[in-house]
Amino acid sequence: MPESVFLAGDPDWWRNAVVYQVYPRSFADSNGDGLGDIRGVTSRVDYLANLGVDAVWLSPFYPSPLADGGYDVSDYRDVDPRLGTLDDVDRMIAACHEQGIRVFVDIVPNHSSDQHAWFRAALLSPPGSPERARYIFREGRGESGEIPPNNWASHFGPTGWTRTTNPDGTPGEWYLHLFAPEQPDFNWDNPEVVEDFQKTIRFWSDRGVDGFRIDVAHALTKDMSEPYPSYPTGASYELESIPSDGSHHLFDRDETIEIYRGWRQIFNSYDPPRVAVAEAGVPIDRLNRYASSETLGQSFNFALFNTPWSAQEYQSIIASSLSQATAHGSSSTWALSNHDVVRHATRFGLPEGTDLNQWLLTDGTKPELNRELGVGRARAVTMMLLALPGSTYLYQGEELGLFEVADLPAQALQDPIWERSEHVRKGRDGCRVPLAWKSDGSSFGFGSDCSHLPQPAWFGALSVASQDGVAGSTLEMYRDALRLRKSLNHSEHLAWVDSSRDVLHFSRADGWHNLTNFGSEAVAMPAGDVILSSSPLAGKELPANTTVWIRVRRQASAKDRVRLPSEDCSPRASK
Ligand code: BGC
Repeated sequence: MPESVFLAGDPDWWRNAVVYQVYPRSFADSNGDGLGDIRGVTSRVDYLANLGVDAVWLSPFYPSPLADGGYDVSDYRDVDPRLGTLDDVDRMIAACHEQGIRVFVDIVPNHSSDQHAWFRAALLSPPGSPERARYIFREGRGESGEIPPNNWASHFGPTGWTRTTNPDGTPGEWYLHLFAPEQPDFNWDNPEVVEDFQKTIRFWSDRGVDGFRIDVAHALTKDMSEPYPSYPTGASYELESIPSDGSHHLFDRDETIEIYRGWRQIFNSYDPPRVAVAEAGVPIDRLNRYASSETLGQSFNFALFNTPWSAQEYQSIIASSLSQATAHGSSSTWALSNHDVVRHATRFGLPEGTDLNQWLLTDGTKPELNRELGVGRARAVTMMLLALPGSTYLYQGEELGLFEVADLPAQALQDPIWERSEHVRKGRDGCRVPLAWKSDGSSFGFGSDCSHLPQPAWFGALSVASQDGVAGSTLEMYRDALRLRKSLNHSEHLAWVDSSRDVLHFSRADGWHNLTNFGSEAVAMPAGDVILSSSPLAGKELPANTTVWIRVRRQASAKDRVRLPSEDCSPRASK
């Protein structure tokens, strides 16, 4: 391991961090094989430092047969040889740390790959054996066990059960998989599973990793006692259907929270303590169970993925997120995109209420995407989120204003959702197309003659090279915003300011105001010095779909202000 890989400093660094998600296979390809890799990430650390991010989160780079983009892990403590070696990861961590960038890795604890040594051993072992007890195997129903143990669905559709074949060729038990059949669910009642994940967390912490993103954090332990409740379709797994009393057999169980208490002890045994963020699909008032200082510390807040374009709607979500986080000593998270959703520059450019899956099935032709509107709104909301207390998670390519690649041909699709839904859902490949670093040339500088998902011609104009140093480009706006927001980090104070109906207006410390115009008309701005705007300003007016940061010369008077419970957003807030 290279020397001095650890970053010391403020143990609360994560509270207001900007974390950049790298989807390693699509970021930068150092060896020209069409797949992004770890050395590719290392080669772009200068780019990340120049962008101004505080941390990177890498989606899984572990050995994987890629049945689900790497979220099917066959060895949690190694690197996929196509992506590099453990030495490469050590060098990448060291290179990030040298530039003051922290590193998060992804932990996938709900399920492994079916190629994991434990699952292969389980298939070769008889029912009831210790090897099978690490996963969830059950007898089928019906005369010869031909009917799955119950009707639970897979998130990727259709059934969540797959039948095994015994070594002698006869049909055997069934195993549970909440995702693809290549992703068998672990049995978290088994102490061996608990211990093995603790070992994984120590393994990466010892190598200098600063934090962990926990995949499907609300699953893990399950109540497998009979009679099984009927969860007839995937819709039974939607947020709204998860009861808030912890009685769901699959999700948000108290025993799962206990597991994270154990992990917290490990995180806190390091100096500085390791941090974590939960991907927990639970109702907003249950997120704090994952985000407490005794468990994972922080939890993703996905509410903004579907918020209607309205100042009131955004304000209400922001206020409730801040007050939830404050009440539990956590800090809020903000995100508009990740590797699982249609890119937000596209979402903002489609008519309200568009069914995104249907739109993808038309290759993005119906309805037509308004790119100018999409990227304009994307820039405005991004700036607004970057002015809020809390940490912001960015997804690679959003700093370029990338749109979803909606017209990927069927034969290029890799997401298991496409096949498992019998071509009714196109899946998530359109946001995972490799980045364009150059404006032309093979794979636009991604690093090979071809890329594992085809890049469209329009990527060149949105490449890093096309925007680097270009005033007003989306890339330069992100760089400016990330640099400027650092001056806000000493305080988590926020005050709402009463403004016109369509404007979301709040102030932070030192007279810093954020105004975002959700309306269709330009509005007057308060007097002050403009710090940054998301699109060019017309005199003293704030155009529609635009955010401006202003240092206001006079503090808004008390009567101008609307006070909400979240006004003081942290126990540490400076007044
Ligand atoms: C990840 C997905 C993945 C799923 C199963 C998630 O929520 O973000 O990409 O398919 O977990 O691991």
